[in-house]
Amino acid sequence: MPKTYRAAIIGCGSISKAHARGYQEVEETELVAVADVHPKALQERADEFNVRGRYRDYREMIEKEKPDIVSICLWQGLHAEVTVGCAEMKVPGILCEKPMATSLGEADAMIEAAQANGCKLAIGHQRRFLPTWNEAKRLLAAGVIGQPQMLYSRIADGLSNWGTHTVDCMRYMLNEVPTEWVIGQVERRTDRYERGQRIEDLCVGYIGFAGGVRAVLEADIQREGAGAFGITVYGSEGTLTFDERHLRLASPRVGGVKEMTMETGNPWAEQAREMCRWLDGTIERHRGHAANGRAVLEILMAVYESARVRGLVRMPLRTKEYPLDLAVEQGILPVEVEGKNDIRGFLVRKD
Ligand SMILES: NC(=O)c1ccc[n+]([C@@H]2O[C@H](COP(=O)([O-])OP(=O)(O)OC[C@H]3O[C@@H](n4cnc5c(N)ncnc54)[C@H](O)[C@@H]3O)[C@@H](O)[C@H]2O)c1
Repeated sequence: MPKTYRAAIIGCGSISKAHARGYQEVEETELVAVADVHPKALQERADEFNVRGRYRDYREMIEKEKPDIVSICLWQGLHAEVTVGCAEMKVPGILCEKPMATSLGEADAMIEAAQANGCKLAIGHQRRFLPTWNEAKRLLAAGVIGQPQMLYSRIADGLSNWGTHTVDCMRYMLNEVPTEWVIGQVERRTDRYERGQRIEDLCVGYIGFAGGVRAVLEADIQREGAGAFGITVYGSEGTLTFDERHLRLASPRVGGVKEMTMETGNPWAEQAREMCRWLDGTIERHRGHAANGRAVLEILMAVYESARVRGLVRMPLRTKEYPLDLAVEQGILPVEVEGKNDIRGFLVRKD
């Protein structure tokens, strides 16, 4: 198959490796360039994947290489600025890592820039390509546990980190049904951050979806059982629990309990492949499309906003700033234990 699509990556840190492997695995994409402000990170990733184009400045890379697709593999605080920059330079396909942004205002700016410049923008919710997630979605659609009534997930490392994937999973399982309201509680006594973004010490969110389905999401309350992005769907006639590799179905419709193990495949390759299909017009939109990324972010933001206003938040969320920043700055969630602690600070290279 001819290499129809020229791909490039901005940010040569941990997740860029998965994107690079993805582009190398897809028949019609060629990874032509990478960019990073850090010279060693740039060289290491470029050498590892034998990439010719190497740039310190992503704008120069786009100008010279004219990629069809860029992956934005930067910390979330840079997603809006760089997505808007790529859109203004008319990159046809932009794949920005999750979480989409650090506020709804930023997410809106990204969507507007993509629309204004005719670009297709997707967010890196690559788990939508996991075989277990798609099997779970198929089983739910087939009614094996009756009507879904409640979803539950326990995560760690912050709402905007693992929580992004989990909330995306809930929306994927419920066919992106609108969210009606969110109520949440947040504890933040320490000065905790994740990749430069203020996060909570722990929290819980209770989400009301249109049609009456509810979801509970807890973060960092109990680490045990919080692995591999597991989720349970409670239905009127059974339960379905799954994570990245395993599914467990308990329902009279399958005669009791059925367990399955599935390989993960390469979701980053599938994500890139689907971007190609979106660009060539074969499909109407990428399953990680930006409006979905925004809807996921809106739920996360609403949990924080609920804690800030101490009440139920009805959607659409009107607060465009980052509610956790507002809550700290307004003295609603004062830091009690001084000392900034970034749980992904170890990613910052010392060399
Ligand atoms: N989808 C997933 O499952 C998944 C998994 C891990 C990380 N992520 C997301 O990927 C993003 C990146 O995380 P990471 O772990 O790769 O971070 P990282 O710190 O390992 O890498 C970030 C890189 O960006 C570079 N950089 C910073 N500013 C730049 C700029 N202006 N231009 C070019 N390069 C610049 C840094 O030098 C660094 O090499 C985050 O949003 C994170 O949440 C997603």
